[in-house]
Amino acid sequence: MLSRKEILEILSISRPDEMQDLSRRAGLCLEEQLGSRVYYRGLIEYSNICSRDCLYCGIRRSAGDIQRYTLAEEEILNAADFAAGKGYGSLTLQSGESASEAAVDFAASIIRKIKKRTASSLLPRGLGITLCIGEQTEASYRRLFEAGAHRYLLRIESSNPAMYRRIHPRGDSLQGRIDCLRNLKKIGFQTGTGVMIGLPGQSIEDLADDVEFFYRENVDMIGMGPFIPHSGTPLGAFGNYPAAETRLELSLKMIAAVRLAIPDVNIASTTALQALHPMGREMGLNFGANVLMPVITPGEVRKQYQLYDGKPCLDDSPEDCANCLISRVGSTGRSIAFNSWGDPLHFFADRHTHTGDEHEGAWDAERETV
Ligand code: 5AD
Repeated sequence: MLSRKEILEILSISRPDEMQDLSRRAGLCLEEQLGSRVYYRGLIEYSNICSRDCLYCGIRRSAGDIQRYTLAEEEILNAADFAAGKGYGSLTLQSGESASEAAVDFAASIIRKIKKRTASSLLPRGLGITLCIGEQTEASYRRLFEAGAHRYLLRIESSNPAMYRRIHPRGDSLQGRIDCLRNLKKIGFQTGTGVMIGLPGQSIEDLADDVEFFYRENVDMIGMGPFIPHSGTPLGAFGNYPAAETRLELSLKMIAAVRLAIPDVNIASTTALQALHPMGREMGLNFGANVLMPVITPGEVRKQYQLYDGKPCLDDSPEDCANCLISRVGSTGRSIAFNSWGDPLHFFADRHTHTGDEHEGAWDAERETV
């Protein structure tokens, strides 16, 4: 782990030559620990129906002018087939939050079907599945794990309790979310979290706390990105946040800081980076990220899944995104690991806190295909 002083030094960098040096250090660390390959998770945003009212989010419950949708099972399965056909080894299934029995049943049933139909000689256990469907009961998490999902992403958004309260409705609890993360780990999920960077009033001390939180909670995956105002939300309309360039730079410094502090975690270079700069996702890769999430949500509903303004790729098809990302990764000189789950090594190094024998087997099976 880096010292707090070192993390703060990284987050305070401003000169271009220092940024370049940071990018080089993060790249070397990644290369040494995990190699330079980029792992894909095809992203299916399968429903924008949400029971939460987060003050920053474009699909919050009270957002008025969006059409709510849930993809039909067949549309989701077709998207999964597309991912398998393209050699994407893993999927991320994301939706607005709903803790209803029916919503959990729906997800579990889809997971089972995807695992079954995508099993092949290249991926004997089918596509790797990451879920990103919010806070659920421990029993629901267990059902989703048993259905075959083996990773879960649940961002804490900010580890600062006062900040968390400021950007969420009264009653939402940071502790509740941390409890969910711990339950996910206990059940055996490869567990991911993350924060938004450049929130109104957020300091670099807050961000250093976030890095320490990731370390302390022993998470395996990190998904972070800049805060991007959505004009239809309270935080987007009234927030006093740093300039786009500052948020982008801070995000890159956070990616590098996490890579150097916790070298064996997987870190996503998120689409939000690209909303701030056309080359944002390449930049994320160049500061130590090793995961990309090509959007494979079918075209017609993409416009209804805008968490923030200026989300890129809204008019693109899954095929467009496939071709675009190949050239983006190519421009960084890295290669894509096709037909591989791309599990985070951190999960397997962390033997004292999990008992996922079955999943260690999965890692071996996967290694043979890499
Ligand atoms: N800007 C940046 N990221 C956002 N998210 C939601 N709204 C925004 C926004 N306005 C992120 C949150 C959430 C993830 C799915 O998307 O971090 O966890």
